[in-house]
Amino acid sequence: MKTEGVNIRTFSSPREEEYLKAQQGRTALEIGCYVGWTTRLLAERFEKVIVIDTFEGEAEKKNAGNVDVLREFKRNTKRYRNIRILKGCSFLRIFDIDFSEVDFIFIDGGHDYETACGDILISAFRSRTGCEIAVHDTRPSKNKNIAVVQALNRLLPLIPVTAVRYIDSICHFVRARRGRFDLIRHIERQLDNIKYYVLYELGFYFWLFQKSKGGKNGRKNSENG
Ligand SMILES: C[S@@+](CC[C@H](N)C(=O)[O-])C[C@H]1O[C@@H](n2cnc3c(N)ncnc32)[C@H](O)[C@@H]1O
Repeated sequence: MKTEGVNIRTFSSPREEEYLKAQQGRTALEIGCYVGWTTRLLAERFEKVIVIDTFEGEAEKKNAGNVDVLREFKRNTKRYRNIRILKGCSFLRIFDIDFSEVDFIFIDGGHDYETACGDILISAFRSRTGCEIAVHDTRPSKNKNIAVVQALNRLLPLIPVTAVRYIDSICHFVRARRGRFDLIRHIERQLDNIKYYVLYELGFYFWLFQKSKGGKNGRKNSENG
């Protein structure tokens, strides 16, 4: 689909699109929505789609011909009334999500190692048992996306998941039954790299801090509600 400034059909293969179209449920969370191609697929199938994006990535602006990525996103998705935009860095905005209502998470945000680790780890940490999680770009192509592959390989053995399968470059898994604090201990036992530990500690204390401020009901600074 061609829009004014951006070819919005972006980074997914036909098989990946079929996979996304086959998902359904109450709420989907998309981390990294760019100009909205995959968001539209999800918005057809879910009652609500929450997207997190900085809308500021330089590479994305270049791809989009230096157009305003947020404006393009809004234009491309204007016929959907079920999309909530959280503008900002995933590491911060992810704490505005009520994960108890999220059935499906599509991770396609920052492709550097630290951001990918953070998005995968926090999603796995906060999601409910049975939540389906999909991580995009988990197959390296032409030396791109190596960091995402490394992040996933690093974390997948540490988090409780079942039903791992691949659909082209998407890695799909289901959050398995395990209490939040079991998960913390499980991760603690296995982490040998201080960076992960600091990341996870920061995330956890930030989450506690948010909760003490009133949690999801205490924040009203999203783009559209
Ligand atoms: C590959 S694009 C997403 C493509 C989209 N899912 C699709 O297939 O149409 C990655 C997006 O992640 C966003 N992004 C990068 N780093 C981010 C971060 N730390 N927090 C939130 N969004 C980020 C970029 O702005 C960009 O729009």
